Amino acid sequence: MPEHVATAEAHPNIALIKYWGDLDPVLHIPANGSISMNLAGMFTRTRVSFTPGLAQDRFTLNDKTADTPSAQRVSKMLDRLRLMAGIDTRALVESQNNFPTGAGIASSASGFAALALAASKAAGLELDEKDLSRLARTGSGSACRSIPAGFVEWQGGTNDEDSYAFTLASPEHWDLVDCIAVVSQVEKQVSSSEGHALASTSVYQKARVSDAPRRLEICRKAILEHDFEALAEVVELDSNLMHAVMFTSNPPVIYWLPETVRIMQAVQSMRKTGLPVCYTVDAGPNVHVLCPSEVAGEVANQLGQITGIAQILMAHPGGAARLVNGKNNVF
Ligand code: PMV
Repeated sequence: MPEHVATAEAHPNIALIKYWGDLDPVLHIPANGSISMNLAGMFTRTRVSFTPGLAQDRFTLNDKTADTPSAQRVSKMLDRLRLMAGIDTRALVESQNNFPTGAGIASSASGFAALALAASKAAGLELDEKDLSRLARTGSGSACRSIPAGFVEWQGGTNDEDSYAFTLASPEHWDLVDCIAVVSQVEKQVSSSEGHALASTSVYQKARVSDAPRRLEICRKAILEHDFEALAEVVELDSNLMHAVMFTSNPPVIYWLPETVRIMQAVQSMRKTGLPVCYTVDAGPNVHVLCPSEVAGEVANQLGQITGIAQILMAHPGGAARLVNGKNNVF
């Protein structure tokens, strides 16, 4: 096989209804479906080149050789693709995040979505959106939601075929802004993979999962009808439910810092004064503060007055994962 190269970009996403816990931890079949918004302006760009003569896959992240666990996860996805494409050539994978490393923005979703698209193209496969989403999911569950555009639902499903994500509404449908209040740049103690594995040890996980279809329906409807009040209520409830499961797992997982709680309370106070705003927190201490774009300036202003926030990043709804600049693009 001659050298085959492709480059792709994908955005990270913020979950409005969270994925926490797996039915199948290897294929990342989730315990419940989820809904997210892609984050425009931030992306991972990945170039994959299947290179004859290479003894093993090589993976660099932001120009540095990646650690072994990350390299193994990348090779696992490449192995899947090699099997599908009937090739055994090893690949050079060069990945860059345009958002600050260690700013607490999970890059596994954008990273594995960009890898799925670039590597499948470089391997000569023409996968449709559904199959790309399924492939991205095998790298990191939430990565399946970074393949389609805008507001995205991951249909949890029960197996490899029926667990994938699709667009609920385009990025232009609703100009929401995610004001990300970064409070800590320290790497988290418990990875999301470890956290997913602990979810079922909490007595609350069953209740969270069985109520998920109801929350998904409220969230879907709120997005489609631009109903921010309904969205805010279900987004905060869903985040709190996930953290309740984390707190009550065995051993417990506590991602919050004092600043996290301070910001959550400040957001509730802002809402009491009439500002349409709500919070959601992922597997880390940073707070994603969502609001319609008309009030984003005011929200960022008010967040700026809270002590303990290192920086505030702002993101509008983002598009789908995409190939960039033909096949020979370099950074
Ligand atoms: O895709 P993972 O394994 O990094 O899990 C993501 C978990 C959360 O970010 C906490 C929730 C979500 O749905 O994105």
